[in-house]
Amino acid sequence: MKMNWGILGAAKIALEKVIPAMAGRPDFQVYGIASRNVEKARAAAEKLDIPKVYGSYEELIADPDIHIVYNPLPNHLHAEYTLKCIEAGKHVLCEKPIALSSQDVKRLIAARDRHQVKVGEAFMVRSHPQWHKTRELVQQGALGKIKLVQGSFSYFNVTPGNIRNIAAYGGGAMWDIGCYPVTICRYVLGEEPIRVIGLMETDPGFGTDKLTSVVMQFPSAQVAFSVSTQLVPYQRMHFFGENQELEVQIPFNAPNDTACEIKINHGDILQEQVKTISFAVCDQYTLMAAAFTKAVRENTEVPVTLEDALANTRVIEAIFQSAREHRWVNLQELS
Ligand SMILES: NC(=O)c1ccc[n+]([C@@H]2O[C@H](COP(=O)([O-])OP(=O)(O)OC[C@H]3O[C@@H](n4cnc5c(N)ncnc54)[C@H](OP(=O)(O)O)[C@@H]3O)[C@@H](O)[C@H]2O)c1
Repeated sequence: MKMNWGILGAAKIALEKVIPAMAGRPDFQVYGIASRNVEKARAAAEKLDIPKVYGSYEELIADPDIHIVYNPLPNHLHAEYTLKCIEAGKHVLCEKPIALSSQDVKRLIAARDRHQVKVGEAFMVRSHPQWHKTRELVQQGALGKIKLVQGSFSYFNVTPGNIRNIAAYGGGAMWDIGCYPVTICRYVLGEEPIRVIGLMETDPGFGTDKLTSVVMQFPSAQVAFSVSTQLVPYQRMHFFGENQELEVQIPFNAPNDTACEIKINHGDILQEQVKTISFAVCDQYTLMAAAFTKAVRENTEVPVTLEDALANTRVIEAIFQSAREHRWVNLQELS
């Protein structure tokens, strides 16, 4: 039997990336899509070959034929609707960031445990083989001891009304894309940060952080990254070992039609001895949905658990607190 997925909202990410990536599978299908405007749901369903439409999120959540819900609503609705799904007995894969406070993640954990469902945060990057390989190389010590990680992630978007530019929706660079370097550093290093410091520049009109720079002290390494909603589109992550440096060239928006590469630089300044590792073309959204479905089917752990989401959210909260209070924030200070 195929597992039936239901989609909450005709979100851009769902229509353009996630639903197309879920097509043609023997083990699961997108069975339904809900929108606040049923015509929007109908148009999406026709285009993407989805059997059922709903004119409200609540109708989809109440449908016994839906087994797993994908929640790509704006950030401020993630926890609320994920909770409604859990309480209706659904498994939920919710977009990042799954909540805007660690209190909300704790509520989700309690509800998940009460209702015995699977709940995960949709960090598709964590399903991509380039990150599995990077983690393996770093943790095996292949680059020497990793002492420093540097990263950047930016795009330019000043569209009023875009969810990224609405502070009350959990917009801004840190929640939208700063969550990626945080999850990836925690995943690759296999550690949690001890303390963090953040510097934020706020857009005067939107009230969101448009440029944020962060330093995180992990037990074994220093991490420095910057994220922006108003800079040239760019993304890179660098892991510096005592002997070698590893660069992930397209760390977050890995394309589904081109091979991704990581580069290992052996230390010559002209980079003539760079070793390239290429990965077979894949779609990280397909891998994410397949891994989540498998965890539901086999009753095993989902790729990015709520406990992992809680640790990520705590770090992001600490970064906001640091930026507000102009000081280092120790993760142990937080409840
Ligand atoms: N993993 C990734 O690669 C990735 C990439 C981009 C975005 N995301 C995440 O996915 C989520 C959606 O991003 P998006 O860019 O796809 O957003 P979007 O196009 O603005 O879609 C959000 C959807 O939420 C619904 N919605 C419900 N209440 C709303 C409200 N008050 N205002 C606006 N929309 C409302 C709307 O659906 P209806 O009108 O149909 O009800 C809307 O289409 C965000 O959490 C974002 O962080 C993830």
